[in-house]
Amino acid sequence: MSTNEQDFAALDLAARLAAEYRRDIAAAETVPVAGYGEIHARFDGPVPEHGCDAPSLIAELDSGARDGLRGIVAPRFYAWVNGSSHIAGVAADWLTSAWGQNGAGIPMSPASAAVEAVAARWLLELLDLPAESSVGLVSGATVANFVALAAARGEMLHRQGWDVEADGLYGAPNLRVLIGADAHNTVFSGLRYLGLGEKRVITIATDSLGRMLPGDLERALKASSDPGIVIGQAGQINTGVSDPFAEIVPMTHAAGGWVHVDGAFGLWARASEKHRHLLDGIEQADSMAIDGHKWLQTPYDCGFTIVRHEAAHRRAMDMQASYLTRDNAEFRHPGAYVPELSRRARGFAAWAMMKRLGRSGIAQMVDDDVRIAQAMAQGMAAIPGVEVLNQPELNQFMVRFGADRGEADGDRLTQATVDRIQQDAVCFMGTALWRGRLVMRVSVCSIATTDEDGRITVDAVRNAWEAVQACC
Ligand SMILES: Cc1ncc(COP(=O)(O)O)c(C=O)c1O
Repeated sequence: MSTNEQDFAALDLAARLAAEYRRDIAAAETVPVAGYGEIHARFDGPVPEHGCDAPSLIAELDSGARDGLRGIVAPRFYAWVNGSSHIAGVAADWLTSAWGQNGAGIPMSPASAAVEAVAARWLLELLDLPAESSVGLVSGATVANFVALAAARGEMLHRQGWDVEADGLYGAPNLRVLIGADAHNTVFSGLRYLGLGEKRVITIATDSLGRMLPGDLERALKASSDPGIVIGQAGQINTGVSDPFAEIVPMTHAAGGWVHVDGAFGLWARASEKHRHLLDGIEQADSMAIDGHKWLQTPYDCGFTIVRHEAAHRRAMDMQASYLTRDNAEFRHPGAYVPELSRRARGFAAWAMMKRLGRSGIAQMVDDDVRIAQAMAQGMAAIPGVEVLNQPELNQFMVRFGADRGEADGDRLTQATVDRIQQDAVCFMGTALWRGRLVMRVSVCSIATTDEDGRITVDAVRNAWEAVQACC
């Protein structure tokens, strides 16, 4: 069945349904009504023998999935670290899909390559990072970390006369990976993919909030002459704090090493005059990972790898084939910095969000979210029996309930309160483990969240905690 006129109606229908969803979501419950099993049963069945028209299937998709959607774009959604898929980015993303562009290279889509190049430059300018850095647009920070670590591995071995891209790791000189004790799990995935081993790392001690201790790093660096890749972070997932880059970067460079920074959300603090001091010294780091689908509010599938050594980045990722012509050597080739060949033309949505918000809008959003997080943390700390584990310097903080009743009871009551908050559906929170204790982790990472949402959230948390105390 070919596309027919009737199929085009699916585009209008999808636009109408999407707008309806987004208009309703501010007032909607923040939890899905239907769970996995129910939704699965609705969609499951034999493979369709015959096709159907596009508008019918879009209507079926919407009616079948809608009540099982998590309210991630709702203003009082604080679980995990998720942006709000801003409508401007969504609209650009729709066009990207409708245009059917393959972002692999300039010949396949000159427009995609050109807009991506602009988005890459804008990103460096917004974050005030060295203009000579190369940028790869990937699916998210997990892949961004992996790509950067591939460049780091290649460069560190290259400096010792070893070509890991050609010869692999068999018989390669030794390489050390030094990493803070509170690093995000995804960097370990990167190490695993690269044959560096997720367990073969040297763990650097951290302070009570998760910042690397420079003295411990210095000792570890001096313990061996093997070159080291130091993995720091801008924005610890639970506390939001960043490593002391002004100390750890020069110290690593003096030891001949490479500093990679996982800055999935926290690197956006560089875009704010008020908060960029938290990342002083980061501009000297060798590579970074940052997400668009967190604090830039792009739709999902948007992360960036930033590498200060373009040749190392290209050596690790570039792939060429006779049919992929490179006539325009003076232009940036999008495929040279990422692991995929065929890929979503991610530059369009990234460009759209930077254009929609502008430098001042991005800074304002970061400042607003930090202010709201700080006010929420203060509000919750004032509730009897509630312990706020860190007053946030950025947008993340942790809360325990009934901690004065002992560790095990604190875990139980924290879980019960988060369950109750989810049931009440005024806001949505999740849990995490911090130093072996269960916490409610709060992430304010959405442009949709307002000061009033913050106040409503504190009341919702108070109500849930009172209900739990009354029954448990
Ligand atoms: C600090 C940090 N690093 C990496 C990631 C992984 O990012 P992504 O889910 O975009 O791959 C996250 C996700 O929350 C994160 O917070």
